[in-house]
Amino acid sequence: MIIDSHAHLDDKRFDDDRDRVIEKCIEDGITHIINAGADMASSKKAVELADNNDIIYASVGIHPHDAGRVGNDYLDTLALWARHPKVVAIGEIGLDYYRDLSPRDVQRKRFIEQIKLAHELDMPIIVHDRDAHGDTMDILKSHRDYIKAGVMHCFSGSLEMAKECIKLGFYISFAGPVTFTNARKLVDAAYGVPLDKILVETDCPYLTPQPHRGKRNYPGYVKLVIDRIARIKGMEFEEVADATAKNALDLFGIDGGE
Ligand code: NI
Repeated sequence: MIIDSHAHLDDKRFDDDRDRVIEKCIEDGITHIINAGADMASSKKAVELADNNDIIYASVGIHPHDAGRVGNDYLDTLALWARHPKVVAIGEIGLDYYRDLSPRDVQRKRFIEQIKLAHELDMPIIVHDRDAHGDTMDILKSHRDYIKAGVMHCFSGSLEMAKECIKLGFYISFAGPVTFTNARKLVDAAYGVPLDKILVETDCPYLTPQPHRGKRNYPGYVKLVIDRIARIKGMEFEEVADATAKNALDLFGIDGGE
């Protein structure tokens, strides 16, 4: 099994050939794809993609970029979509102080509201944290009683931070940046995080792994992330593929079918 635990196949960059890309993923041996929602429109599309494609599952949530652009009833709408049997998490939610597209106080408010929504729905969360490690950890720690489980998506922190996240019940997800030549901190984290706490993802169409950097990313390239982690850990590709797939199935409560 090979699972891309975080993709955005709803993105407009797939509008011309989305069905063909999904076919190619199946040909490439990808068995499950979690399509993450990021705003109301993409969350809705994520659910539709999951409804129409066996290998796709969805999460619904409001990314910090869009935290300032949702109406008051957004939590009710997310809760409604989350009833679909293939919606497996609330996300992506969190803080982004790199681009600061929504005011930081609004980002924190929406993050906490959606942590509480996941708690009500008994679902795991998918956390986006960019240049906001301190506040992200503060919020996760102060709301730990509301967190069933989760994943730090496209992890960008240190090994020390990864260990703190694991203590809070999180998996650590590595994406394309672990394949980049200047990835020393991420390589240390991938080396140090136990295999039973690792997920892999593409975050496509963004963050294309080496050697395809610059091209559009797609879920088949998750194999390059798996291969990199296998090399870092001195393991076989299959061992890392199987373990990360099992971890994703456990986290998202998906029946592996075997
Ligand atoms: Ni994403």
